[in-house]
Formats: sequence, C-alpha cells, structure tokens
Amino acid sequence: MTDDRTHDIVVWGATGIAGRFAAEYLTERYAPEDLSLAVGGRSPERLGEVVDDLTDRSDAWDDVPVVVGDATDPESLRAIARDTRVVCTTVGPYTTYGTPLVEACIEAGTDYCDLTGEVTWVREIIDRYHEAAVDAGVRIVHGCGFDSVPADLGTLLAQSFAAETFDTPCQTVRIYLEDGSGSVSGGTLASFGELFDAAATDPLARQTLRDPYSLAPPGERSGVDPGEQRRPRRDSLTSGWTAPSPMAAVNERVVRRSNALLGYPWGREFRCTEVVSTGTGLTGAATAGLVAGGLGAFTAAMSVGPLRSALRRYAFPDPGEGPTREEAEDGHFLIRVLGRGTAADGPFTVEVEFGADRDPGYGATARMLGESAACLATGDVDSPLDGGVLTPASGIGLPLADRLREVGFTASVGEAPDGRR
Ligand SMILES: NC(=O)c1ccc[n+]([C@@H]2O[C@H](COP(=O)([O-])OP(=O)(O)OC[C@H]3O[C@@H](n4cnc5c(N)ncnc54)[C@H](OP(=O)(O)O)[C@@H]3O)[C@@H](O)[C@H]2O)c1
Repeated sequence: MTDDRTHDIVVWGATGIAGRFAAEYLTERYAPEDLSLAVGGRSPERLGEVVDDLTDRSDAWDDVPVVVGDATDPESLRAIARDTRVVCTTVGPYTTYGTPLVEACIEAGTDYCDLTGEVTWVREIIDRYHEAAVDAGVRIVHGCGFDSVPADLGTLLAQSFAAETFDTPCQTVRIYLEDGSGSVSGGTLASFGELFDAAATDPLARQTLRDPYSLAPPGERSGVDPGEQRRPRRDSLTSGWTAPSPMAAVNERVVRRSNALLGYPWGREFRCTEVVSTGTGLTGAATAGLVAGGLGAFTAAMSVGPLRSALRRYAFPDPGEGPTREEAEDGHFLIRVLGRGTAADGPFTVEVEFGADRDPGYGATARMLGESAACLATGDVDSPLDGGVLTPASGIGLPLADRLREVGFTASVGEAPDGRR
C-alpha cells in the first residue's frame, strides 16, 4: 500500500480515549498487509501499553509501530507527517494543539482527518490554510466523528438520491437527532470549554458562532438560511415536536460548507436545520421545552467566565477520563434526514436513516474516524476536490457511507413514506 512512506495511517493521540478506540478499531478491522498502521503520542511508556493492549486483542498484529512527538514541537510533527500517508488525529482540544499539525501535513503532502467540532478553530484553519492545502493537493478533513459525519453524509445521501431519482436537489434538509444514548469524555468537555473561551475573548470567534455561513469560503459567507432553531417548535414535516440541537452550530455550518465546496450542487438557496426530535403531543411539547431549557441553561452557565471555570474544575471529568471499552461498545444513535424538493411533476421528500448500535461519540466515532482515514489512505474517495480544508461529504463522499454500512451502520435512503411527505 505504501509508496515512499513508512505508514499508511498514524493514529495521533492513541493514548487518549478517542484515539485508543480508533486504534483498536483499525487493528481489529484491518491486517498489517491491508493497512500499515502506527500509533503516536508524547509518552513512549503509555504508547507501549497501548501497543501491548492492541497486540493482545488482535491475532493479526504482532507489533504496532510507535511514533513519538509533541503537539508543541513542530519539528516532531513534521517528521511524523513526512513518514505517513494520513495522520488521523484525536489530540485535542484542537484550538490548543491542532494548528501546527495541520501545517506539518500540508508541508509534507500528507492527508489529515480529525474529530473536531471546534467551529471557531475550523474557521481559522480555513482562512489560514485552505489555499495552501489546495495548492499542495492535501485533504484536510475536519469533523470525521459524530460531529459531523452523520449530518454531512446523511445530507449527501439525500441529495445524491434526489439528483438521481428526481433530477433536482432537495431545497431544504432537516436533520433530526431521533434517538441516542452515549457518554462524554473529559477531552470532549475540554474542547467545549475552549469554544466558550474563544467566544469570550475573540470577536472573530463570536462572529463565527453568529454567522450561519461562517465556514463557507471567503466572499461567500451570506445566504438565505437563518441558521439554528433556538426554541421548541412543532415540526411541519413530521408533526412532532423538536428542540434545538447542541450540535447544530457545528453540523449545519459543515453541511453548508460541503455545498459551497462542491460548487453549490444543492443550490444557493439551500437551507439546512438540525434539531432534536422529542415526540408528539403534550409529552413531546414538554420534552422539547425541557431540552431547550436545559441547553439554554448550560450555554448560559458556560458563557459566564467564573461559572465556566467552576464547571470545568468541579463538575467535568479531566482530559483522559471517559467511557470504558464496554461503555463505548454500548449505546446507540439514530439520525433521520428529511430532504424536500420540487421536481417537474411536483414536490418530493427523501428520507435518510443514519445510525449505529454503539456509543455515538466513542464506539461509533472510532469507526467513522477509522474508516475516514482508511478511505484517505487507500484513495477510496468520491470527490471532485484533490485538496483543501474539507468536510467529510466534500473530501471523502459516499465511499465512507459504504464502508460504514459494511461494519454495521444503518445508512439507508429512499422516498419518505406517506406520513412524512
Ligand atoms: N466529534 C466527535 O464525535 C468526538 C468524539 C470524541 C472526542 N472528540 C474530540 O476528540 C478530542 C480528544 O478527545 P478524548 O476524549 O480522546 O481526549 P483525551 O482522552 O484527553 O485525549 C487527548 C490526547 O491528546 C494527547 N495530547 C495532549 N497533549 C499533547 C501534546 N502536547 N502532544 C501530543 N499529544 C498530546 C493526549 O496524550 P497523553 O495521553 O500523553 O495525555 C491524549 O492522547 C477532543 O477534542 C474531543 O472533543 C470528538
């Protein structure tokens, strides 16, 4: 598989919660002759423990090479990037640690994927590095986990089906977080804290969070879409109640960026909203109120500096703490995407179901990230773009959905049944 590079994929951050699950997944799914894999981090001792664990769990791997560096030492990152085809990184918060690695990958001509949902950092990377990544033919693909693969690929599936079946795209897409159970790690909460720190101190970060088109290319940061739903609302398509989604601020912007990077195949008037489905009737309405109230209270608390510090210190788990392997393999999620469009013979509705029977942020994310890296390493991508700061849909495309189906994900698409048209 390799040309002049020693490794196909380096899992950078393999001593952390998400990185370890990604490395476990890749060594379970692929043999060394399929993909040459290395694990990376800053502590050789901890990496040694990870390798012992990986080789104990897998018959195919007698050893897994280790690469050592530090996110604060750019020369070590350059050496790692030069020696691999893809860096798959879980070293976060990305706002704190991520930028030098992106720079090293572009310099070395190495593809890159990560798990970031730190939208203010992604905006910075777009503005600083998109053109350089295009020129270098390097794919920098952010958001290859639960943020934002289901929303972004779900939309791509709906739009591809609409184009094939009705010869026209969906003008609106609604993404419903329908069901789910999972956990959260200290690393994820630390990244969340970084987002609020950025919003408190940096006017550009605040503007990024206000502007629904802030991840679009420069000069194209405006449009008809008003952005996130802020209140409980009865949904016109499903007749159920919906609440604001905690991930909408990231996922909606990522989907709009996909449309822009692909050259607006879904139109310049395309609208996209992500919400939480809370059910029908009085119970659905009450639950929507509770979800909206809880999210509002959490956001308000995180926006006040001393409260944010207190939450981080006393309530959040520390970085490095998170779900056990058993917990990561437990849990589930289901996302429904409904796309509406108008064909020559009238309106249509496309429905996508995207889900898995694993913790969305860990067991399922390990597969989404691992398969994103595998797509990049093997050239299994369906994208008109050879390089740039990309999204899963624009940088990898439908082969990722095919691979995820093979490992047990639901990723179905078709015309919506009568009740949802
Ligand atoms: N999109 C999603 O669905 C999703 C899901 C899960 C996680 N995430 C994101 O993924 C990131 C990681 O989460 P996590 O829970 O795995 O965090 P974690 O357990 O704290 O892991 C962080 C990793 O970064 C490494 N690291 C820290 N400082 C470093 C440095 N200076 N040089 C090299 N490595 C360094 C740590 O190494 P040590 O072990 O040596 O400390 C560890 O391997 C977070 O940003 C989180 O938000 C996203």
